[in-house]
Amino acid sequence: MAETKTVGVVGSGQMGSGIAQLAALHGLHVWLLDTDPDALSKARKSVASNIHRLVSKGHLSQAAFNDAVGRLYCTSKLEELREADFVIEAIVESEDVKKKLFLEVDKFVKSSAILASNTSSISITRLASATSRPSQVIGMHFMNPPPIMKLVEIVRGADTSDETFYATRALAERFGKTVICSQDFSGFIVNRILMPMINEAFHTLYTGVATKEDIDTGMKLGTNHPMGPLELADFIGLDVCLSIMKVLHAGLGESKYAPCPLLVQYVDAGRLGRKRGIGVYDYRKTPEQVKPSARL
Ligand code: NAI
Repeated sequence: MAETKTVGVVGSGQMGSGIAQLAALHGLHVWLLDTDPDALSKARKSVASNIHRLVSKGHLSQAAFNDAVGRLYCTSKLEELREADFVIEAIVESEDVKKKLFLEVDKFVKSSAILASNTSSISITRLASATSRPSQVIGMHFMNPPPIMKLVEIVRGADTSDETFYATRALAERFGKTVICSQDFSGFIVNRILMPMINEAFHTLYTGVATKEDIDTGMKLGTNHPMGPLELADFIGLDVCLSIMKVLHAGLGESKYAPCPLLVQYVDAGRLGRKRGIGVYDYRKTPEQVKPSARL
């Protein structure tokens, strides 16, 4: 398979913008696509400012900054993906929406292109079945934030070819990532283990065992986690956590995966975490408060 030169990244939220940043910094031409123009312009600004920070710290030359930013093209048209050798989708964690996207992308990209999903939990085999090229569909699960976190979890669907796997692994390694491989079962490796822990932290809060601060401090200082589970849930996005729990529950069929009612209620209330300024914690700044508050 020819070397990847151009990638399409669909979805310019926290994951898509980070993946686009990585790809542009590693010499690829990047088409970043989103249906929401505000998300796209926010992503362009955040990628430019993140790469510029590397210049300020002396890790990158001004010329390399200009090259990387110059390789990033933003669009809302799927047709622009026609030059892409590799497309990575990072849109909302919904099987129906992702399938619909893959069906469309399949029509516009060249026949040799690989379609990868950054899904946290959804079956790659089922996403692949929406396309005419199941052997070229694969899971490429980056961690948040993609430019910083060292891991990529690769998930092969039932029909993913060896060629597709090797090209995906080569791309992840080009980005400087360590690769782990998972079979195609709900939640794969990382979220199969992480999400039930986060869900249990919600149950611990819901049943009044402890305050959110004590739950997070307990897991940080007691188990050496860099972030507490509730803080981490806010960072990931409570909507994403809830979607993953639903996929685990439906796919693995055990009641232990049922989402905690408090997590459901927060999402219903629009408390989606840091990206909305409020989740388990309140991040909206007031003069005397810049850190997660105890007001809620
Ligand atoms: P996000 O909510 O920050 O961004 C999603 C973006 O996709 C939005 O900008 C939205 O406008 C766009 N979008 C939705 N439907 C679209 C469509 N049909 N075509 C084009 N753009 C569309 O979500 P986030 O957190 O970046 O998650 C994206 C994916 O990455 C999900 O599958 C999630 O499970 C996965 N993921 C999330 C992680 C996290 O920590 N948030 C970590 C690893 C994977």
